[in-house]
Amino acid sequence: MKFLVVGSGGREHAICWTLAASPLCDAVFCAPGNAGIAEVADCVDISVNDFDRIVEFARDRAIDLVVVGPEEPLVKGLVDVLTEAGIKAFGPTAAAAQLEGSKGFMKDICRKYGIPTAEYQRFDDRNAARAYIQEKGAPIVVKTDGLAAGKGVTVAATVEEALQAVDEAMADGKFGAAGAELVIEEFMEGEELSFFALCDGAAAVPLASAQDHKAAYDGDKGPNTGGMGAYSPAPVCTPEIEARIVEEILNPTMAAMTAEGAPFRGILFLGLMITAAGPKLIEFNVRFGDPECQVILMRLMSDLPSALLAACDGVLSTFDLRWYEESALAVVMASKGYPGSYDKGTPIGGAESAVDDPENVFVFHAGTARNGDGALVATGGRVLNVCAMGDTVAEARARAYGTIDRIDWPNGFYRTDIAWRALEREAG
Ligand code: AMP
Ligand code: GLY
Repeated sequence: MKFLVVGSGGREHAICWTLAASPLCDAVFCAPGNAGIAEVADCVDISVNDFDRIVEFARDRAIDLVVVGPEEPLVKGLVDVLTEAGIKAFGPTAAAAQLEGSKGFMKDICRKYGIPTAEYQRFDDRNAARAYIQEKGAPIVVKTDGLAAGKGVTVAATVEEALQAVDEAMADGKFGAAGAELVIEEFMEGEELSFFALCDGAAAVPLASAQDHKAAYDGDKGPNTGGMGAYSPAPVCTPEIEARIVEEILNPTMAAMTAEGAPFRGILFLGLMITAAGPKLIEFNVRFGDPECQVILMRLMSDLPSALLAACDGVLSTFDLRWYEESALAVVMASKGYPGSYDKGTPIGGAESAVDDPENVFVFHAGTARNGDGALVATGGRVLNVCAMGDTVAEARARAYGTIDRIDWPNGFYRTDIAWRALEREAG
């Protein structure tokens, strides 16, 4: 089979790496890819939003399956465009991707179908939004309706902070059209958990559990990022919690989307708060999390292409996914300054030679390129994902950080405490 993966991050590197290792795989292409992806796939210089050229390339090369990584092309309808062109594509349609593309849509689905989530109200009027905050008080959470590159959520500790978030979105236009409408919701207390499922439009098969760290600095401090590290399994996800998530949130969502005429096919990510009253939905993503994908795929024993095809063909209910028992952990190395502004083109030494245990350690690339001399340079905010497997989280973590110590990138930084919660649990 020939695959085309759309995207250029660590998630797409892990997808390409896993597809390339399958006995079903004849070729993997990636649009646009990065320097690490180029080691396992043929990178083609096509942007993720250039739908015409993606269709043309897939047709010319007789691609058997297109796998779309990031949310933006999904929400804009890349899977619809490919399907109309007769090309098999893995991922949700634009209609189903509204679960991530519009917070208001997602909240209304929850309300209509009784899926547990924070109490909320939608607003397109600034004064009404301000009045609602005054009435409810703090803490309270303000969210842009549309995609805002992970920056559209304000968890406000005070009424003033919440009012300021409303003004920034609705008066200053900080998020453009994405912030013209807001969802304002109740603050939920508890431990967060990410939950992933592979979905075929009717059936949903849970994937291995994984947890990311969104804050930039140690101790879960500092600004929110796309994710500075992840680990799998996530011990907070006990079998009892998993059963409740499947029964109370995942399965009702699948049924709801079918009833709405937009059956969900692809990877569904549930961002959850484990509250005193049980699991409640914070948000959906309609694709793999990054870097959660990296640790989940490292633990996947089953054949990925077979699983993706079963999802595309609607036959997942007879499919069983198997996982390695070991733990997997990913540490993100980012450019100093991320998630704010940072220098581009800084040299990275030793990314390959740092790996002395290739059985257990792999470095996925998130934002890299080769300069004219073939040397590796950083091109993004998140740059490398140093991933390791181990019999315990502690062992995986020691292997990952041991590898990082041998990478020479003065312009990079990383968190030194990835998986601290899991380690505390492991230590008892
Ligand atoms: P989101 O982009 O929706 O994942 O929100 C970013 C982060 O804000 C989440 O990972 C949570 O930590 C936090 N958050 C969002 N909504 C709530 C809520 N209703 N209560 C408490 N924390 C929240
Ligand atoms: N790591 C969270 C995300 O991919 O959005």
